[in-house]
Parts: sequence; C-alpha cells; structure tokens
Amino acid sequence: MKKEIEAYKEEVKAFVADNSQKLESFRLKFISKKSVINDLFESFKQVAPEEKRVIGPALNELKQMAMARLKELSENLENSSATTSSIDVTLPPVYEKGSIHPLSRIKNRIIRIFERQGFSVADGPEIEDDFHNFTALNFPENHPAREMQDTYFIEKNPDILLRTHTSNVQIRLMENGKPPFKAIMPGRVYRNEAISARAHCFFHQVEGLHVDKNVSFKDLKQALYHFATEMFGKDTQIRFRPSFFPFTEPSAEIDISCFICGGSGCKICKQTGWVEIGGSGMVDPHVLESVNIDPKEYSGFAFGMGIERIAMLKYQIDDIRLFSENDLRFLQQF
Ligand code: DAH
Repeated sequence: MKKEIEAYKEEVKAFVADNSQKLESFRLKFISKKSVINDLFESFKQVAPEEKRVIGPALNELKQMAMARLKELSENLENSSATTSSIDVTLPPVYEKGSIHPLSRIKNRIIRIFERQGFSVADGPEIEDDFHNFTALNFPENHPAREMQDTYFIEKNPDILLRTHTSNVQIRLMENGKPPFKAIMPGRVYRNEAISARAHCFFHQVEGLHVDKNVSFKDLKQALYHFATEMFGKDTQIRFRPSFFPFTEPSAEIDISCFICGGSGCKICKQTGWVEIGGSGMVDPHVLESVNIDPKEYSGFAFGMGIERIAMLKYQIDDIRLFSENDLRFLQQF
C-alpha cells in the first residue's frame, strides 16, 4: 500500500491539464467520491494497527497534495485561456472589405455632376398619396398609368400608393417653398411589372427640376448636354425626340449617341447609334398652378432618368435583377 501511495504522489505531481477535460479527469481520479484516494482510505481500515502509523500520514499527505494540485491546475488553465482563447485581439481583422454598390456609385456620380451646375439634392417619400404622385402632376382622372397593372396601391386605401416615379418630389418641393427651385431628386420607385432581365418591380430614378423666371428649353438642353458629356465622355452627342408626359409640355425623350460604337451602330444601341436615357420637358403650366406658382411669372424644365438604365449602359450589365440579388461575384466587380 505504501508503494501504491508513493506512485500516486508521483502521478499527482506530474499531472498536466492543458484543457478542462483533463482537469476533470484529474478531479475524478483523485478527488471525487469514487477516487483512488477514497478507495485507499477504504482499504486503510483493514491495515494492521502498527502499519497504520506509517501509512496514515502518507495517505493524508497524498490527499492534501491532490487537492493542492487540483487548485494549481485549474488556476493555470484559467490563466492560459485568458491569453490563448479563441479571441486573439492582436490578430488583424479577417472580414472582407465591402465595396460601394454600383447603383450608389452611379447615383453619387450623377449628384456630383448636377451639383456642379448648381442643383441641390432633394428627397421625398416612397409611400405617397394620389395627389403627389398623379393629380398634381396633371394625370387625368382615368389615365392608364393609374391603373392597377402599373401602380401598387395600398389595399385598404387606394389613395395611398408606392410612388411610381420620383416626380412626386417635384410637387413636394414646390408646395413647400417659393421659386426658384433647382434640385435633383434621386430615389427608389415601384411598379407592378413582371420581373425580367429588362424590368423590375422596383428600381431607381433621378428627377431634375429647375423653375425660375425665364427658364427655357435651351436651359434643359444645356443641363443634359453637360450631364451626358461628363457621364459618358466629351464626344457624346445628345438629341431630343418629341414625346408625351402629362406633367411636361412640350415633352421629349432624351437620347445620347452610343458611347460604345460612337454612333456607327452596335449591339448596345441596336444598330441605331443612339441610346435612350430618360424623359424630359418644360413643366406643364397646370403643374405649376397645382402648387400655387404663377405660370405667367415662372417657367421650368424637368427630367427623369433611370439609374439602373444608366448603370447598365455604363457597365454593360445585361440583367437588371443583378442589382438586387446581392451576389458577391457581381458586387465585387465594382
Ligand atoms: N416620371 C417619368 C417616368 O417615370 C420620367 C420623367 C419624364 C420625369 C419627363 C420628368 C420628365 O420630370 O420631365 O417615366
């Protein structure tokens, strides 16, 4: 028995616990109720009285050693886990760096270009009422654009809808201030459309508005010409095609010469040499009247462009769905 005790003493002294499982196995073997030391105390009862005097103190010593060692091992483990735990604050960050979304990139660029021409940036709500999205913009009562296939109405109140264009901000801006107004208004818009490579149920536009005394069509041309050359290159040409919008008179579609082929015809411009980038026109007098601005005193131009459309042209992206899918393989290219 004396030999056994000596062997356990050596084992206790040499025991290493570099993790909590090993510490627990030490406790089970030497400290718990079922420990080898308890077994020895059991056997001790049978030991002859004269031997007890020698073995008793040795056994007690083993017990004390085991308890002290347990304390020591658990303290060591605690100290080492403080420095080698899974969180090493000295490591460099390992998360991946994000990048600016291509739509934000284009939007910021558009803002920068128009800011240089004296436009400020205005904002308005995406959940809008009929007046600001349609009526004040001179949409007749039964205009097809108001119908269900284009507009998301709020079911319980058809007066409330998701704006179908950023033109609502023109109205919000003008009804809350006095002319002159010179602002661009970027934002998200919604349309009840089947989702495809070319169309989405939500997308982004940037609206432009300049209202002052003596603003004419040539000011519109000038502003958009500057925009086109700064955005697509200094040789870019611009042309206006007669069109119709309820809120402008006259109205025009804006085309730029194809910056891929320079106008000779390619896949992007469908061999026409021109690509459409938005709509524009002179603010209809009815619109000015709806926000209490006298059309005899003031005139203005407005335009609206799709931000996805410009990004798709600029980066030659052929599927509008890519912008909202959050696929890193796409986003990391910008
Ligand atoms: N609101 C039009 C649309 O969503 C775009 C537009 C056209 C805006 C002409 C304008 C404008 O301000 O003058 O299609």
